Amino acid sequence: MYAPRKLAFSVLGRCPWRHCHRRRSAAAHKFSVREALVANVEEGAKNIKIQGWVRSVRSQKEVLFMHVNDGSSLESLQIVAEPSLKSSAIGFGSSVEVCGVLVKSLSKKQNVELKATEIRVIGECDSKDFPFKIKEHHPPEYVRQFPHLRCRTNIFGSLLRVRSEATSAIHQFFKSNGYVHIHTPIITSNDCEGAGELFQVETSKRVGTQEEEDDDGFFGVPAFLTVSGQLHLEIMSGGFQKAFTFGPTFRAENSQGRRHLAEFYMVEAEVSFTESLEDIMQVMENLFKETATALLSKCPEDLNLFFKYVSPGQQGRLERIIKNPFIVISYTEALEILKKSATSFQYKTEWGCDLQTEHEKYLVRHCGDVPVFVINYPYDLKPFYARDNEDGPPQHTVAAVDLLVPGIGELFGGSLREERLHVLRSRLDMLGLADTYQWYLDLRRFGTVPHGGFGMGFERYLQCILGVDNIKDVIPFPRFPYSCLL
Ligand code: 4AD
Ligand code: MG
Repeated sequence: MYAPRKLAFSVLGRCPWRHCHRRRSAAAHKFSVREALVANVEEGAKNIKIQGWVRSVRSQKEVLFMHVNDGSSLESLQIVAEPSLKSSAIGFGSSVEVCGVLVKSLSKKQNVELKATEIRVIGECDSKDFPFKIKEHHPPEYVRQFPHLRCRTNIFGSLLRVRSEATSAIHQFFKSNGYVHIHTPIITSNDCEGAGELFQVETSKRVGTQEEEDDDGFFGVPAFLTVSGQLHLEIMSGGFQKAFTFGPTFRAENSQGRRHLAEFYMVEAEVSFTESLEDIMQVMENLFKETATALLSKCPEDLNLFFKYVSPGQQGRLERIIKNPFIVISYTEALEILKKSATSFQYKTEWGCDLQTEHEKYLVRHCGDVPVFVINYPYDLKPFYARDNEDGPPQHTVAAVDLLVPGIGELFGGSLREERLHVLRSRLDMLGLADTYQWYLDLRRFGTVPHGGFGMGFERYLQCILGVDNIKDVIPFPRFPYSCLL
């Protein structure tokens, strides 16, 4: 436990341990910047040590001001020191360790400040070559070029903290609602979505050799990076009523667009003993609203930075999304809306066509800029697992749903799963996949239950919360065609 220590010497005066580094280190409690900023100094000054990176230095005749940030909060800690403690090695970006006394600040700008008794430069930073300049606004396209350094910028620091909190909030949501967390595999032998957007996995030694051509590879079967954990989660929903997974997914989509990545994180849930798509939609809506609400209360400073500098008006938009019920329309209604629209779309709006981003965005605007569930898609548009509504012809649909959100378009995709053995078998037969998916058919032979689930793109979720235009700015290391930096 930290015991508050009253120190007799003046904060800018001499430290009694000035020449005794070991003794001083032992006495100084290490604080993170966040801990220091909220420390209660009313009960007496605290002798502490902080470590971090210099965000600003200002040297005056009598005093040296410095701000140090260690990633624990958006706000940096103000350091005040005698000019004698200044060294030419202290500059924007350098890493430092500062010992001193945490006291109440006389300025209104901050609650506390650290009166330094020792400043130790751990690593110098050549500010001429450092790509980020003090107090300069760097556009996201510029910052993106430095994936190895961008966590030092305010915006990216905030993004990473929000991302981390959002991960916890999502886990918390599922935990408190009775879901079991399943680690679904990253390497898999199936193509869940059947869209062929797969990355194949092979050892680097075999690639391009005769050996690769002659046999079935390292695993003895073609193996891929997963496009979705759904099928493995469905296995678990044969033994658990509620299961979820949250991990990396991979799609070889040839898109450099603002909402596509080759590697992204997906949150997926599967619920057993449900015959209603509405039940699944309710989980989606609750997941979004509850986690967004948790973020607003857990990281207000970080979110405000985005609301102020990245996407003005976003806070109001987000609060409206949280407050209002999500709207539900059928695919058929969606097409009627699009057809009646005066907008001339680039892509076709015939029944049976896939909804494109331009259509999705139009539908969201048309419905008042709140999230819209589009349900009951054409049978031929959705993968083999979607439950047949047996309503055609001519309009044959499946119990599938996409959630479209303002500014992004599709955020969630989900469906009821075809749990009827004969229906599933005939669909797989038609697709020539019955052998490949024998195990999936088995799930329907051995105690099948009506079930359904969904997947939510985690980066698109962050874009929607923060109002970030480009998906590459919400993931630490974006992967997309012709780019795999670091
Ligand atoms: O709609 P999708 O393809 O659905 C599935 O994969 C289902 N198997 C999920 C399930 O039911 N368990 O993908 C789900 C979501 C999309 O709505 C989108 O938000 C995101 O994943 N997504 C991408 N995000 C970034 N980059 C990409 N290339 C993405 N592709 C899909
Ligand atoms: Mg989809």
